[in-house]
Amino acid sequence: MKPACIFDLDGVIVDTAKYHYLAWKRLANSLGFDFTEHDNEQLKGVSRIESLKLILRLGGKQLSELEFDAALIRKNGWYLEYIQQIGPGEILPGAAEFLRSVREYGMRVALGSASKNAVLILERIQLLDQFDAIVDGNKVSKAKPDPEVFLKAAEELGVQAEDCIVFEDAVAGVQAARNAAMKVVGIGSEAVLQQAHFVVPNFMGLRIENVLARFS
Ligand code: BG6
Ligand code: MG
Repeated sequence: MKPACIFDLDGVIVDTAKYHYLAWKRLANSLGFDFTEHDNEQLKGVSRIESLKLILRLGGKQLSELEFDAALIRKNGWYLEYIQQIGPGEILPGAAEFLRSVREYGMRVALGSASKNAVLILERIQLLDQFDAIVDGNKVSKAKPDPEVFLKAAEELGVQAEDCIVFEDAVAGVQAARNAAMKVVGIGSEAVLQQAHFVVPNFMGLRIENVLARFS
C-alpha cells in the first residue's frame, strides 16, 4: 500500500502561528506579564487548554476555574478577530502545490491538527476539499505530544501508522508523530525540530518522490 500523508495545519499549511502568538501575548499582557516569541515555541502544536496552563506557569500566575475558562474564550475571540480576513494568500509557500501533487501521486491525505478552528480555516483558505480525513481538536482528547491525533488520522484513512508521513512545524507535533511510530518531515528550523527524520524550511521545491526516496 502507498504511504499516506498527514499534515499539521497551523504553521505548516497556513501562516496562523503568528496570530496564535499575538492572541496569547495579548492575554498574557492583560494578566500582567509578558510572553516572548521564544516562549511561544513551546506552545506550537499544543492544545488551547494546555497552552494556557503553560503560559500561566511561565507568568507565575494562578486563575480560578471560571477565570481560566474566561481566558480561553478571550484568547480565542482575539484569535478569530485576527484571522477574520484570512484567505488563500496566507497559505504557506508551496504548501497548496505540494498537497495537490501528493493527491495526484495517488496518496491519501489527512489533516492532524490540535486546532478547534481547523475546518473554518481550511474553508477560508479554500483547501477543505483537499483532505480525505480531518482530525482536529474537536475529535481528540489528548494534546500533542500524545500521538492520538495522528493515530486517529491513520485510522480514518485506513492505513497503518508505519505507512504515514507526517509534516509538522512544532516540537510537540514532531514528538507526537514519533510517539505514533510514524515518519516525520519537519517544516522549519533544523535546530528546533531535531527529532524529525529530516527538516525542510518550507514546501518550496519539495517533491513527494524525493520525500518517499528519503524513507525507502
Ligand atoms: C495548534 C497551534 O495547531 O492548535 C496551537 O499550533 C494552538 O498554537 C492549537 O493553540 C489549538 O488551536 P485552537 O485554534 O483550537 O485554539
Ligand atoms: Mg503547527
